[in-house]
Amino acid sequence: MCGIVGYVGVKNASPILIEALKKLEYRGYDSAGIAVLNNDELLVRKAKGALKFLQEKIAKEIIRGSCGIGHTRWATHGEPSDENSHPHTDVSGSIAVVHNGIIENYSILKQKLQGKGITFKSETDTEVIAHLVHYYYDGNLLHAVAKALNQLQGSYALAVICKDSPDTIVCARKDSPLVIGQGNGEQFLASDVPALLEHTRTVFYLNDNELALIKKEGISFFNEELEPIEKTAEHVNWDLSAAEKDGFEHFMLKEIYEQPQSLLQTLRPRIVTGDDGLKSVNLDEIGIDQRYAQTPRVIITACGTAYHAGLAAKYAIEHFARIPVDVDIASEYRYRSPILNPADVFIIISQSGETADTLAAMRMAKKAGARIIAITNVAGSTLAREADAVLFTLAGPEIAVASTKAFTSQLMCVYLVALKFAQLKGTLTKEELHKYIEELEALPAKAQELLQNKEIIQRFAAKTFNKKKVFFMGRLADYPISMESALKLKEISYTHSESFAAGELKHGPIALVDTDTLVVAVCTQSKLFDKMDSNIKEVKARGATVMCITYQDESYFNKTADATVTIPRTYDELTPMLSVIPAQLFAYYCAVQRSLDPDKPRNLAKSVTVE
Ligand code: F6R
Repeated sequence: MCGIVGYVGVKNASPILIEALKKLEYRGYDSAGIAVLNNDELLVRKAKGALKFLQEKIAKEIIRGSCGIGHTRWATHGEPSDENSHPHTDVSGSIAVVHNGIIENYSILKQKLQGKGITFKSETDTEVIAHLVHYYYDGNLLHAVAKALNQLQGSYALAVICKDSPDTIVCARKDSPLVIGQGNGEQFLASDVPALLEHTRTVFYLNDNELALIKKEGISFFNEELEPIEKTAEHVNWDLSAAEKDGFEHFMLKEIYEQPQSLLQTLRPRIVTGDDGLKSVNLDEIGIDQRYAQTPRVIITACGTAYHAGLAAKYAIEHFARIPVDVDIASEYRYRSPILNPADVFIIISQSGETADTLAAMRMAKKAGARIIAITNVAGSTLAREADAVLFTLAGPEIAVASTKAFTSQLMCVYLVALKFAQLKGTLTKEELHKYIEELEALPAKAQELLQNKEIIQRFAAKTFNKKKVFFMGRLADYPISMESALKLKEISYTHSESFAAGELKHGPIALVDTDTLVVAVCTQSKLFDKMDSNIKEVKARGATVMCITYQDESYFNKTADATVTIPRTYDELTPMLSVIPAQLFAYYCAVQRSLDPDKPRNLAKSVTVE
C-alpha cells in the first residue's frame, strides 16, 4: 500500500516530508516523490526505487518551501518508474496530487480528458485526478477537488496542492485511511499514524467522503456537500512500533485482519453491471475475451501457498467453466517434460513475482510458445515484467513471511478467472453468474464477521498448541485449504502438520493417529458432510482431538467434533476465501503460545529468489 504525507507550516517542508516517508517504509514501496510550493513555483522531485534515490535528487537540486506533499508508491497501474511515481501534476504544472487507492473508472475519465486535448505523462490512474482538479479550478482549490471527486469511482486518500493557493493542502478520503496531525502553527498529514508521531500526537481521522482544508493556522473539515463539519481531535498513545502495526502485535495478525479490505480491492475493479442490471466479470486487463471460449486446457504453476491457490483454481475452473486444469509445483514443472499446446492458457501465480522456480517454469513455458498470464502482488516484479499479461492481486504489500492476505486475494483472482471462463463458454447463465458475483461481493463483509470469532480460535490454540501432530483434512474445495492450513501451521509454529484429502485417511495416514494428534476437519462441502462425519468418527475412535471448521448455521458436526469454528454461510464452491481464515488465526495463535515470532519464522525468507 502506498503512503501519503503532507506538511504546511513555517519550516522547510522537504526534510520533514522525507523523514515522514521513511516512517512509512515498512509498508513497502517501489518509488517515491515529493512536491513543494515555493512562492509561485511548484517543485516536484520523484525517483524510482528506495527513498535514498529521492534524497540524492533533492540533494542535487535543493528545494525550499514550507508547504508540500509526499508519497511512497506501491505500483498498481503502470510499472515502478520516475514518470509513474507520485506526485502527479496537471497540464499547467500548477497542481500536484498524491493518491492512495484505485480509481476504477480512470480509463473512461482518461479518454474523456484526452478528448479535450490533454496529454498524459504517466500510465497511472492517479494522473486523471490532477487533470480533473485543473479542469474545475476557478480560483478555489477546495471546490475544484470536491467537483473532481464527484467524477471518481473507487477508493482514495488524496492530498492536493496548487501554486495559486499557497500554504494550503486539500485532502479527502474514501475507503483508504487518512489522518491529520495538529501542531502549533504547523499541520501534518499522513496515510498512517507513524509518519506523524515525531511531531504530534493530536490527530483527526478523516471519515469516508470527508474533505479537509489544511492551512498552517488551522484545519477545516467538510462533508461531501462542502458543508463545514466539526471533528474531535484524538490523542495517540501508541509507540512507533505499535503504530506501524496499527496496534496489532504482529504484521501477520494485521494482515489477517486486512483481508476484508484486500478481498474487496481485488474484486471491485473487475466487476461490471450491464444495462440489464446483471453483473459480469471484466478481465480485459489480461485480454481474456471471446477468443478464449475454446480454451482446451488451463495450466497453473506456482510454489508453496501460491500453489495451493492454484489447486483451489482447479476445483473452481473445472466446476464453473468445465475446462480441464493441470496444476504443477514450479520446481517439478521446470525439470520434467511437460506437454504444452499453443491454445492452452498458462497461469503463473506468485505473491512476490520473484520466486526462482516459478520464474524458471514461466520462462520454459514461454519458450515453448505459451502465452503467460501472471497473477502477482508486485508490480514491477520480474514475473510482472516478463509475463504477457498480469492480473494484479492488489492485496497491498505483505510484510509477514507467512502469506495470508496475498493468498486470499490470489483465490479471489482465480475465482474471477473461473467465472470469466464460465461467462465466455456459457456454462453459467447470466443470472447464475450474477448470483455468484453478488456472493463474491458479500465475502469481504463475511470475512469481517468471522474475524470476530478470534477468541474461540485463540482459546482452542491455547489448549492444543502442544500437540505433537496436527493433521488437516478436507474434500473438494476444502482439500487445498487443508494443505494451506497445514503449511501455515508448520512454517510459523514449527508443529509437525500434514494435510490429506479426507478420503485418503484409510490409505495410510490413519496409522499415525493417536491421542497426541489434533485433526482439523474442514467441512464446508455439504454434499460430502456424511463422508466427513465418518472420517471424524474414525480419527476420534483412535483418540484424536478434532476441531471442525464449518458453517455457523450448521449443526451436522456438533456431536462428533470436540470444537467447532464457524464461518458465515456462503455457496460451497466459494468457501476457500473464508475457511482459510480460521486456520491462519489458529497457526498464528499456536506460534504466539509457543513464544515464537510469527513474522520471522526460522529458515524462511519472504522471497525465495534462489533454488
Ligand atoms: C507460505 C509462503 C510460501 C510462498 C512461496 C511462493 O506462507 O509464503 O510458501 O507462497 O515461497 O512465493 P511467491 O508466491 O512469492 O512465489
